[in-house]
Amino acid sequence: MTIGPRKDGFQLPAVRIHIGFFFNLHGNLIMGTRKRVLDPCCGGRMMWGNKQHPDVVFGDQRNEVITVTDRSHGNKSGTRTLRIEPDTLIDFRSLPYQDGEFKLVAFDPPHLVRAGTKSWLTAKYGKLGSDWKDDLRKGFAECFRVLSPDGVLVFKWNETQVKVSEVLALAPFDPLFGHLSGRKGLTHWLVFMKPI
Ligand SMILES: C[S@@+](CC[C@H](N)C(=O)[O-])C[C@H]1O[C@@H](n2cnc3c(N)ncnc32)[C@H](O)[C@@H]1O
Repeated sequence: MTIGPRKDGFQLPAVRIHIGFFFNLHGNLIMGTRKRVLDPCCGGRMMWGNKQHPDVVFGDQRNEVITVTDRSHGNKSGTRTLRIEPDTLIDFRSLPYQDGEFKLVAFDPPHLVRAGTKSWLTAKYGKLGSDWKDDLRKGFAECFRVLSPDGVLVFKWNETQVKVSEVLALAPFDPLFGHLSGRKGLTHWLVFMKPI
């Protein structure tokens, strides 16, 4: 049998499925498929290239379609619609996954402490609660728990209201490196690797 491209040029759609061996709750070895990447607070998935990437679990604590008043950036219609439609409803403070399940976690929690409840910013990014330090501490701990040893955590933080140093004090490890971006240079992208 020859393995290679068909002479008539027909190509099957590329579908990649990851198959692995796991233990179920009863300790039995099972074979299954699993996703390697977790976004535990995906919001509108704006930062993603492929918003339906098959390797990614997109989670958030809310599922809603919101239309809000927005006249920013010359938006003539005066309204904007945002779709927050995660694959699964989850809370990053208590993730429903086993230890070490993911290779990569992308953690982009809300960064605003003050914002109008009906504002476009709150609709888009969510808002931190009064226990935000405790919430983010738990979020970091959970992200690292579900990462495999040597797994990578990418953390995004905009320090318009809360300094990144205050937030990094809540993480159990230091980032390896980072990068600033955004129009005002206030958005930090930081990369951590889970120690073995
Ligand atoms: C900054 S936005 C994420 C934006 C997203 N990365 C994007 O590319 O569009 C933060 C998201 O965290 C969600 N969130 C807030 N608290 C959460 C929690 N405890 N668990 C899960 N998601 C949470 C909010 O609903 C909001 O959609």
